[in-house]
Amino acid sequence: MKKTALIAALMIASSLTGVAAAQTAASAPAAATAQSAQARADALVKQMTLDEKLQLIHGYFPPLAKPVPPIAMIPSAGHIPGIPRLGIPTLRESDASLGVANQVEQRKGDVATALPASIATAATFNPKLAYEGGAMIGAEARAKTFNILLAGGVNLTRDPWNGRNFEYLGEDPLLAGTMVGEHIKGVQSNHIVSTIKHFALNSQETGRNVLDARIDKAALRESDLLAFQLGIEIGQPASVMCAYNKVNGDYACENDWLLNTVLKQDWAYKGWVMSDWGAVHSTEKAAIKGLDQDSGQELDDQMFFDTKFADAVKAGRIPMSRLDDMVRRIVFGVIDSGLMDQAVPDSAQPIDYAAHALVAQKAAEEGIVLLKNDGNLLPLAKTAKTIVLIGAHADVGVLSGGGSSQVRSVGGAPVEIPLTKGAAASFARITWHASSPLKAIQALAPNAKVTYIDGSDPKAAAAAAQGADMAIVFAWAWRTEAQDPESMALPDNQDALIDAVAGANRKTLVVVEAGGPVLMPWVSRVPAILQAWYPGQRGGEAIANILFGDVDPSGRLPITFPVGVDQAPRPEPMGLAELHAAEARRDAGDKTVYGMSGGVASFPVDYPEGADVGYRWYAAKNAKPLFPFGYGLTYTSFHYANLKVADGTKLSVSFDVTNSGQRAGADVPQLYVEAKSAAGTKAYRLAGFEKVWLKPGETRQVSLTVDPRVIARFDEAKSGWALDAGNYKLRIGHFAGDAALTGSARLDAVALKP
Ligand code: BGC
Repeated sequence: MKKTALIAALMIASSLTGVAAAQTAASAPAAATAQSAQARADALVKQMTLDEKLQLIHGYFPPLAKPVPPIAMIPSAGHIPGIPRLGIPTLRESDASLGVANQVEQRKGDVATALPASIATAATFNPKLAYEGGAMIGAEARAKTFNILLAGGVNLTRDPWNGRNFEYLGEDPLLAGTMVGEHIKGVQSNHIVSTIKHFALNSQETGRNVLDARIDKAALRESDLLAFQLGIEIGQPASVMCAYNKVNGDYACENDWLLNTVLKQDWAYKGWVMSDWGAVHSTEKAAIKGLDQDSGQELDDQMFFDTKFADAVKAGRIPMSRLDDMVRRIVFGVIDSGLMDQAVPDSAQPIDYAAHALVAQKAAEEGIVLLKNDGNLLPLAKTAKTIVLIGAHADVGVLSGGGSSQVRSVGGAPVEIPLTKGAAASFARITWHASSPLKAIQALAPNAKVTYIDGSDPKAAAAAAQGADMAIVFAWAWRTEAQDPESMALPDNQDALIDAVAGANRKTLVVVEAGGPVLMPWVSRVPAILQAWYPGQRGGEAIANILFGDVDPSGRLPITFPVGVDQAPRPEPMGLAELHAAEARRDAGDKTVYGMSGGVASFPVDYPEGADVGYRWYAAKNAKPLFPFGYGLTYTSFHYANLKVADGTKLSVSFDVTNSGQRAGADVPQLYVEAKSAAGTKAYRLAGFEKVWLKPGETRQVSLTVDPRVIARFDEAKSGWALDAGNYKLRIGHFAGDAALTGSARLDAVALKP
């Protein structure tokens, strides 16, 4: 499907805005609720006609779909008509990583609460906030009559430049898996469905529809798959979304090993596998290898799960038992999530946006990371007389990440810049949320003169900054789904801007609004740096609260920040040459360059780092990053003591955390255990963490119990986790590589199912 057709189609679809399509779900059959979800699903499948079964296994993409006869669909990601006579509701799918999405405002005027980027939520290291964010999104989705949320992005950050890092939860499987599980649990607490996505190894955006991600299977189990496994166990998502890319030769949505062996057999997953949008490449192969539902079918090169599928079943090429299994899984998920018995309302319901904004603000406040604070430049006294804000439209708002996760936030978009080229051009705009740092700072320091200058002229900015009590440069780097940046440097001459301002005023703070790390050549020349990520629709307020110390910064980095790109396993996106070749052909008028692949030919991407993702890679290479995983400063200080280890068959540790500073604050003590991977490499792995709030002088004992899989190796031959008997070195630290307390544990051998 031509991507350029998308915008036009979206605009036509938007004329349907406000038409709340009739909710086809009849009330659930009485007395059914007492049966197990599995038994109910079985019974329903037995009552279905062939056409009814076939209806459930493929979804429309509303902007492009032309069903006959026409049906009312809300402009959004997907629509699957229900079966009213059996009480099976129509499935209305919306993207929902950071809020109920509304890309390119396809539903005119329909706003929702925008959380900060998921990476900011990961940086809170606070699973409770991940849950609350999910619960908030789920409540808004339900009130807007959506019942399937395309949420739960948990691809591990393998490359610091990946365009979609902002939508994910960092580089560590324990942290990411825990946070995504809680988020999904929150979404599904509204009796609607959440996915977990993108299964698996969709680690870069360049060529995502064609690339072949190659990795050792055991290494994948110990890293990305472990994050999914933990997330599924904690969150019980009703659906898993398979990814665009190939994994070891086969597309993820027709990958026998991923879908049938790992997910459905080893993990005994009972829900359904839905494809990513435009990720299906076959009928029989996909069905047999484990795909249960084709999503947004109009985006595939052909509609593989429509009449082609019916023909394949009728001809016996796909057994009826497999179709039954697909449908049973979908219906099971719908029942198990509670959706079957608590249908979403027929029409839009009121939403308490004021209360929800506080959820977004809290996540931003706990997720913003203070990276540098020389001479205790922060917190800034409210008696400051002059504060100069520079750049990034800080007078009106804060930046958001782009792509299918884009929320049209409450308050609208004060700045929106359309894209003129690139794979994201048809569905993304560079968008700011209406949360003005200028107004928020002014509100907290009513007697100060707070001014704004746009930063386009470094000299003018430096002149404005001179003599101010504080100069704050807002640096920005936009990231989006479907594209990777070709450089990690700040765009638009911002490095020169920061240098000029820091040269003019010693009291310069840089607030970075970015989806992950950016290069900071000026790091030693500015005294203070705040990593604000994309802080969501209350980001301005959150930044101001941290700036003045109304909130103590407590975010910790969920990914390692490199000094330079050469420190990362891959210095730039793979496949850039293929991408540029396709773009050149298109620019020369080649009309065959279209579709989800954008004309890019398939290419391999190797992940030789295996399970040693992120901080483990830096440790293996003996490389010192700019800022390590787990790192973040506060306005107070924390001290650890009295490590106690209980070992044997299960490892648990306890230790005391003391707030040794002058202010109340929150700390995230981290337990790292040295473990051996299947590949034979040794690395300290994050094995536990907890967020603790302490008053000055207060001490609390923290106890952490270790999930053995986090420190085990995966034995592919025996198909299970193996924890070898022996001595394991432990560290309690403030970040990866820190060894504030050290110890060791004697562990017995443990073999665990996969
Ligand atoms: C993205 C998914 C998203 C889907 C539907 C795809 O391009 O990869 O994350 O849920 O579109 O919008």
